[in-house]
Amino acid sequence: MSETSDAQNNLVSLTTSDPVSETSPSSEAAPQPFAERLSDQLQHIIGVLIGANRKPPRRFKSFLNGTWLRHPLHALLTDIPVGSWVLTAIFDILWLISPGTFAWAARGAEVAVIFGILGALAAACTGFADWSDTYGSERRVGLNHAIFNSSALVLYIVSLALRFTQASGDSIIAAVVGFIGLGVMSYAAYLGGEMVFTKGTNVNHTAWEVGSDAFEEIMPVEQVEENKLYRVMVSGVPVALLRQGLQFYAISATCSHAGGPLDEGSLEGDVVQCPWHASRFCMRDGRALTGPATANAPRYDVRVQNGQVEARRAGGH
Ligand code: FES
Repeated sequence: MSETSDAQNNLVSLTTSDPVSETSPSSEAAPQPFAERLSDQLQHIIGVLIGANRKPPRRFKSFLNGTWLRHPLHALLTDIPVGSWVLTAIFDILWLISPGTFAWAARGAEVAVIFGILGALAAACTGFADWSDTYGSERRVGLNHAIFNSSALVLYIVSLALRFTQASGDSIIAAVVGFIGLGVMSYAAYLGGEMVFTKGTNVNHTAWEVGSDAFEEIMPVEQVEENKLYRVMVSGVPVALLRQGLQFYAISATCSHAGGPLDEGSLEGDVVQCPWHASRFCMRDGRALTGPATANAPRYDVRVQNGQVEARRAGGH
């Protein structure tokens, strides 16, 4: 087989991928109409509030997603209510064992409840922003996750109100309401884990891509038109290739957010926008510019040798 035909075979035909079918296998139970309607309405309202349909750069939404942090912000913030409310339970148990000896624990519990409530509110904002880009079964699990977390939040607000009515800062009823809240929050946390570890929500979809130090031929240079995205394979990995003048840029063709095909996205200068949830990446260095993506796209070195465009995964693969 000639070099040219080898290179041509590296071109992968473009296919329109459907994010709904990616995330909602047909084998799953039929959705509950009410839950789906509720989710549709909620996602619409959230989208309006966070500016999901505004023109780029959609800074507020990207801030909530954690694009600036290169990490989902929600995952960080959830530690605050979890830690605070576990601490609340420990303080409450100490106070219940011996209110006289551990009178300070009642105050500690009060402060921990407040920290937990503030953290839960922040986590809710970021969580809803992430959830607004989900579909199918992961959206359903996410809705339940939100309902249980909101219930836990309400329980802790009630618990705090009861504590404020006591001079000591604590009461048996407030502690019991807190224990119930902890149980509800724990189940919500389980559902959050289900989303990430079973459904793959917000997992970096390029995490397992690997590369080689050696350049590989991709295609003849005369076949590469300017300002057009090509889907090519490098070391078995789909890569989006772009030519602008004498410059060639290449990044992973898989969107780090949920696996959308970047080579099917829209191009504005050297920035490509994912066709699924509108994350934007710089073709020059793979930087994630706009959420919901938080992880950068792996970048590829590109060169032209003997009339062939060649590429290899850039360092750190
Ligand atoms: S797959 Fe969600 S923005 Fe690309």
